Amino acid sequence: MHRPRVLSGVQPTGHLHLGNYLGAIRHWVAGQQERENFFCVVDLHAMTVPYNPAELAQNTYTVAALYLACGLDPQYSVIFIQSHVPAHSQLTWLLNCITPLNWLERMIQFKEKALKQGEDVGVGLLDYPVLMAADILLYQADLVPVGEDQKQHLELTRDIAQRFNYLFASPENPILKLPQPLIPTTGARVMSLTDGTSKMSKSDPSDMSRINLTDPPDLIQKKIKRCKTDPIRGLEFDNPQRPECHNLLTLYQLLSDKDKATVAAEVQDMGWGEFKPLLAEVIIEHLRPIQTKYAELMNAQDYLRQVLREGRERAHQIAQATLAQVQKAMGIAPLL
Ligand code: AMP
Ligand code: TRP
Repeated sequence: MHRPRVLSGVQPTGHLHLGNYLGAIRHWVAGQQERENFFCVVDLHAMTVPYNPAELAQNTYTVAALYLACGLDPQYSVIFIQSHVPAHSQLTWLLNCITPLNWLERMIQFKEKALKQGEDVGVGLLDYPVLMAADILLYQADLVPVGEDQKQHLELTRDIAQRFNYLFASPENPILKLPQPLIPTTGARVMSLTDGTSKMSKSDPSDMSRINLTDPPDLIQKKIKRCKTDPIRGLEFDNPQRPECHNLLTLYQLLSDKDKATVAAEVQDMGWGEFKPLLAEVIIEHLRPIQTKYAELMNAQDYLRQVLREGRERAHQIAQATLAQVQKAMGIAPLL
């Protein structure tokens, strides 16, 4: 039986937060037994904004350990570091040569990040989506589980694949597979704790705006206690006037594994003083086993290294096969 192939990744810019977990990683874990999975730590993407080299190398391993701590199992999933498989950089160059500049200039994330950086925008930031397309297309992935913010990049990936197939292959024998995004119905856009209208993000300068997967219980309590709310009594989903309320109830719903109607009924007469400790507790309890496993893994560096070495070998094999086909089709002379 054909199992759909999945590829996804997270940037090692700092630690992972609840947005990464609920928007992406949790769904990687849930589906891994029915699929053929490739999950990478996309360190080359993390270099497209200013960063500290020593921290990048460290975070790359930290994020890999968090993948395992969240429940990715090397028995079902190939786990690797993007830069360790050179085909990602090689395919990026080849795809660069067929990607129109204006496709990249249109990307919302590029425009937002470029605005934040002012004068100092590197070419890598513009090229970011082509590298992401290479990540996906190398593995001929059927599905790409991501949060809502990656939808446009997935559409671009499909456009690039289609253009490549049109220019260098034939409709009967396409070389690159067009992937489908897999975006969850709830949790695809977890919002900041300090502003319910902007998304939870690693790049927010305030750590109080997010819950990191490694935050200790007392810090989680403090962040929830201080998080932004509103003066209205009675809590509800889906009121556009109350974005923080919707976000916090959604976190509660997802992490307690209750359905929306049950939560709505439970909280309709509550005030924040009653709800916040419940929410903090649910987060702490949900993260507890992940944090225990993470601590174990950080003490078992040899195991982590072995997983990443095996992952790289397997990923390299698959990626190399696609790269060779693309090189041949594009007219790269064979090695003599
Ligand atoms: P990044 O942190 O940008 O590398 O994102 C890694 C994955 O987490 C991607 O699939 C994103 O779509 C997802 N993600 C990032 N932030 C959020 C958020 N606030 N809510 C839901 N998903 C998110
Ligand atoms: N751009 C993605 C993000 O910031 C990370 C990413 C890089 C990715 N390559 C990928 C996600 C390939 C899915 C598939 O969230």
